[in-house]
Amino acid sequence: MHQQRATPNDRTTRQFVLPEGALALGAGLGTLRVPRAADVPALVAGTNDPEVRRWLPVPRPYTEAMALRWCTEEAERRRREGEGLHLAVTDEDDGLIGTVCLKHTNWRTAQTEVGYWLVPGARGRGLATRACRVLSQWALSATPIERVVLVAATGNTASQRVATQSGFTYEGTARSGGILFTGRTDLRVYSLLRADVPESAPGETTDNQ
Ligand SMILES: CC(C)(COP(=O)(O)OP(=O)(O)OC[C@H]1O[C@@H](n2cnc3c(N)ncnc32)[C@H](O)[C@@H]1OP(=O)(O)O)[C@@H](O)C(=O)NCCC(=O)NCCS
Repeated sequence: MHQQRATPNDRTTRQFVLPEGALALGAGLGTLRVPRAADVPALVAGTNDPEVRRWLPVPRPYTEAMALRWCTEEAERRRREGEGLHLAVTDEDDGLIGTVCLKHTNWRTAQTEVGYWLVPGARGRGLATRACRVLSQWALSATPIERVVLVAATGNTASQRVATQSGFTYEGTARSGGILFTGRTDLRVYSLLRADVPESAPGETTDNQ
């Protein structure tokens, strides 16, 4: 049995509400927290990274003004309007080292989609897997969401590994399902269901993995 869902993310919820504004990534690691103005320089640098631009259709160039608007208005607007939840992935000193989000949320069908990127220096240590798993498991155990989708371009091996390492199941390929700057791409589609999530809710302790 899953733990009882905590308010305010009850059945009538149509927006995500984070407990105390953050989820713990695990012992000795940072958190997933709401973005803030101090994140702007790291957000600009990270979003302009060639690998991020290769696999995500982010604006080119991604400017300081765009980042400031994202941190101070846009992320919260999307949360408030129920579209999703856009968070900073932080290191142990609370600095932004990437982002992870829930987006394209459909509250009627109780589905959402997870997305992520990390700055180059933070890659290769399992952090994207942790961030993806913590946020997805939280959505499935503490909110009305029943299904989290993850899509990765067929060429994006790293992201596909994050999906399977996070416990997602491969479902198939959405032909020409995504747009990159190089053109349309097939997408590999993965999902995580509530039934896939272990009982203990993520983000409640500092060592939950
Ligand atoms: C995708 C991304 C977030 C992965 O971050 P990460 O922190 O390096 O991922 P993890 O350390 O959790 O690694 C997860 C798995 O991917 C593998 N992996 C990481 N980078 C890889 C690469 N370039 N090629 C192949 N496999 C890779 C890891 O070895 C690990 O697999 P393992 O557990 O079997 O060893 C990061 O590469 C990134 O920010 N890429 C650009 C943006 C992006 O593609 N976002 C996703 C869009 S769908």
